[in-house]
Amino acid sequence: MRVTVLVENTVGRPMRLFGEHGLSLWVEYEGHRLLFDTGHRGAVVANAVCLGVDLRTAEAVVLSHGHCDHTGGLRDVLEFIGRRIPVYGHPEIFSGHRVTSPTDRYVGIPFAREELEDAGAKFVWVREPRELFPGLWLSGEVPRRTPFEKGDARMYVYRETERVPDPLADDLSLYAVTPAGLVVLLGCAHAGVANIVEHAREVTGVGKVAAVLGGTHLAPVDAVQLDNTVSYLKELGLDLLAANHCTGLPVAARLAGVFGERFRFASTGETFTF
Ligand SMILES: [Fe+2]
Ligand SMILES: [Fe+2]
Repeated sequence: MRVTVLVENTVGRPMRLFGEHGLSLWVEYEGHRLLFDTGHRGAVVANAVCLGVDLRTAEAVVLSHGHCDHTGGLRDVLEFIGRRIPVYGHPEIFSGHRVTSPTDRYVGIPFAREELEDAGAKFVWVREPRELFPGLWLSGEVPRRTPFEKGDARMYVYRETERVPDPLADDLSLYAVTPAGLVVLLGCAHAGVANIVEHAREVTGVGKVAAVLGGTHLAPVDAVQLDNTVSYLKELGLDLLAANHCTGLPVAARLAGVFGERFRFASTGETFTF
């Protein structure tokens, strides 16, 4: 299995790559290829070319959730691929995701469903765990079980005219079974990193977690949640923690201190092989 970071907030190497606030991962697994998220502004297409990744060989696109920093590159990706392609996601990717800060605004998917279907998207809705290829699972809705993972209070949606906390039920992750153990790929981890990893173990039946890679959404959490999550991750005995995106630099620095050599910052252009 190989994962290439096509888009992330930062670029860590002097290559002709673009960073943008968002995430997009190219996943190669047992001869299969898929694109997990599409970044924010379409840099994914040029970055893929630069990294020698041919997006047209993707068998599917998977959307971790509806936020614009994960779905904003989708139309460009579809136009580049130029044929009908399955796009896996939770039906609530189109719910009207909003945040209160730094400005109160819509941060959901920036396209109408019809526009994406015209560009080639064949949506496949996923609420339950789904094995995309043998050994590679898309999580489906992740049960929120830990007492310390609270979700992001800045995020909300309108139900009718009432403003309610955004449940982000559409937050999906990928679970890959490898000889080294489970590899968990996060989008933004709005369901909570520990909730997601426990769900991955339950769904796949694999206890050993080799790696966690992607956005942890630990940047905005309070000290209690952060401490609990760090303790949880330490107990997992990971071989690799490759956090990025909504982890934020202060938390990434702390994780680097805790995990030492086993921590990598997964900036644009990085590749991880399992
Ligand atoms: Fe994000
Ligand atoms: Fe998000």
